[in-house]
Parts: sequence; C-alpha cells; structure tokens
Amino acid sequence: MRKNIVLFFILAMSLSLYADTAVKNIRLPKPDTKSRVSVEQALNERRTERLIGEPALSLKEAGQLLWAAQGVTDGRGYRTAPSAGALFPLETYVAAGNVSGLEPGVYRYIPAEHALALIKKGDVRKELSAAAMGQRVVANAPITIIFSAVYPRITGRYGDRGIMYTHMEAGHAGQNIYLQAVSMGMATVAVGAFDEKQAQKVLGVPAGEPVTYVFPAGKKR
Ligand SMILES: Cc1cc2nc3c(=O)[nH]c(=O)nc-3n(C[C@H](O)[C@H](O)[C@H](O)COP(=O)(O)O)c2cc1C
Repeated sequence: MRKNIVLFFILAMSLSLYADTAVKNIRLPKPDTKSRVSVEQALNERRTERLIGEPALSLKEAGQLLWAAQGVTDGRGYRTAPSAGALFPLETYVAAGNVSGLEPGVYRYIPAEHALALIKKGDVRKELSAAAMGQRVVANAPITIIFSAVYPRITGRYGDRGIMYTHMEAGHAGQNIYLQAVSMGMATVAVGAFDEKQAQKVLGVPAGEPVTYVFPAGKKR
C-alpha cells in the first residue's frame, strides 16, 4: 500500500514537471479559403512592394500568409504548393516582430496543425535585415516568412536533382505568398540576397537546414 502511494506521488510529480516544461504550440485561426479577389485579378496585380508599413498584423493575417505558403489542403497532407514526390523538403519559419497577440520571436510553422512552434524568443528583424545586405524592408515589415531546405527528405529519392526540386518548390510557395498578399491588400518582397549562414544563425534554424528564400510581408505603406 505504502509502495503504491509513493509510486503515485512520483507519477504525479513527473506529470506536473512535464506540464511545466512542455511548450504548447500556438494554434492559428482557421484560414480563409474564399475571397472576393479572383486568381486572375491577383496575378494581374501581383507586384513586389518594398514599402511595407510597420503596423501590426493580426494572428489571422500572419496565419493566412503562412497557410498560402505551405498550408495543408487535403487529408493526405498535400499542401497549397506542389512538391516533387510529395516529399515536402521545405520548412517554413516566421520572424514575427509585430503581430498582435504573438510574442516577438522566430516560430516554425507546422502545416499539419496550422500552428506555430517557438524556436527563438525576441525580435530578430534588425539582425535578419543585416544578414540580408541591410535591406530595410526586412527590418520594417511586421513579419518575414522564411523557407529553409531539408534536402535529405528529397535527395534520397531524386539524388542531386532533389536540391533543384527544393528550390523550384520554394518558388511555388513564394508565389503563393505574393498572390495571397494581393488578395488581402498587403505587400511582400521575394528576397534572395542574404548571407545564408548569417540568416541561419540569426533565426536559430537547425544546422543542415539552409535558408533558401525570405519574404517580408505586411500592410502597404
Ligand atoms: C529569386 C529572386 C530573388 C530576389 N531577391 C530580391 C532581393 O533580395 N531584394 C529585393 O528587393 N527584391 C528581390 N527580388 C524581387 C525582384 O527584384 C522583383 O521581382 C523584380 O524587380 C520584378 O518586379 P515584380 O516582382 O514586381 O514583377 C527577387 C526576386 C526573385 C525572383
């Protein structure tokens, strides 16, 4: 009996310790799958806009852009962007500097849950801008969406060609961000000019996951 009580206490203590240390993912509001802007209109109006305003985005707006980039759209886990062999070599991060209800930091987007996992606390926008050759839009925009590549997910099947496929896929996902931004009356820029290693360090992205493409986004100034 005494042994059982001791065991019970050990179990209860372990569970409460786990509850304290386990960091919960942040659920994003359900994304919209309809709008009044047609695909044709979004294509016609798509433009690179470097004058992005500093005002905060809502969690819903940030989530909508992330969903457009890599959201899951069917029961098999397939996404808004095509993926060679459905192997999904991209990881998506958001450097959030000014999002209502979200602590500034770097978060990993979890497509299957439409949720965010905190990777690094704090506003990294200025450091990320420095890694992107000082491009001011990166420092000013309320969020920047970042794609990194996990090549082994795809090179196992496609060899070195998988590296090219990963970059093609990032192009698809990036265009989705552009079109979603038009539909929301927002602005974005495809940023390819950055120091990969510096960006990786600033963001706290795991080693062996090179940063491939960067998209500051926000309201038009
Ligand atoms: C791969 C790639 C990398 C780019 N890198 C940058 C960049 O680092 N900074 C920037 O301001 N624009 C960058 N751009 C945006 C281009 O300058 C822009 O697309 C071009 O001027 C055409 O304008 P549009 O997008 O409005 O059609 C990049 C675009 C692509 C496709």
